[in-house]
Amino acid sequence: LSANNESRGALVVFEGLDRSGKTSQCGRLVSYLEGLGHSVELWRFPDRTTSVGQLISAYLTNKSQLDDHTIHLLFSANRWEKRSMMETKLKAGTTLIVDRYSYSGVAFSTAKGLDFEWCKAPEIGLIAPDLVVYLDITPEKAAERGGYGGERYEQLEFQRKVSQHYKLRKDSSWKIVDACQPLDDVEKQVKEIVLQHIIACQKGKILSSLWS
Ligand code: TMP
Repeated sequence: LSANNESRGALVVFEGLDRSGKTSQCGRLVSYLEGLGHSVELWRFPDRTTSVGQLISAYLTNKSQLDDHTIHLLFSANRWEKRSMMETKLKAGTTLIVDRYSYSGVAFSTAKGLDFEWCKAPEIGLIAPDLVVYLDITPEKAAERGGYGGERYEQLEFQRKVSQHYKLRKDSSWKIVDACQPLDDVEKQVKEIVLQHIIACQKGKILSSLWS
């Protein structure tokens, strides 16, 4: 996707169970990087602001019912509709901190029983993250944290399955951070890991595609 030695932004994805602290950590990280003078943006999937995202949001809030394959493809389409913007931003030197990505797509749908290869197929050709920070927390600990918000997947039994499916999918781009630690400790580790990757991308690390 990009020639070697071209400086670019990093694609950093956060994954983890619901209530693992992704949203707070992404927010803290973005403020920190902005403070250091980096060009950085906070993204999230699903992006509920698009028309596809509104269909997803209606499903998650139980306002609509959809076949499991259909919602899977909508989540994927929601990433595809942002793909070219993602490439443009990265090549222009902006680092993207992304709250959930294709790994959520695969982990949640395979946890429902869909076939792994089938789930992966529509993600092929999306931009591969430079780093996936997995905020590791047990489903029980996550459930204790201020309760779930009542969306479709926010149930302990289902989160247990998602947790198992996430673990089957980790690859060399993953860094596992113990999310049961105090928030400040998690934040400190996250900053260190992410800065190393941003530097590698500034030095021209090649942009690649899923799934490699
Ligand atoms: P959110 O709470 O981070 O907005 O995500 C909404 C829910 O959607 C969450 O339970 C994870 C789930 N999800 C999928 O099932 N597939 C996906 O591709 C993504 C991005 C999220």
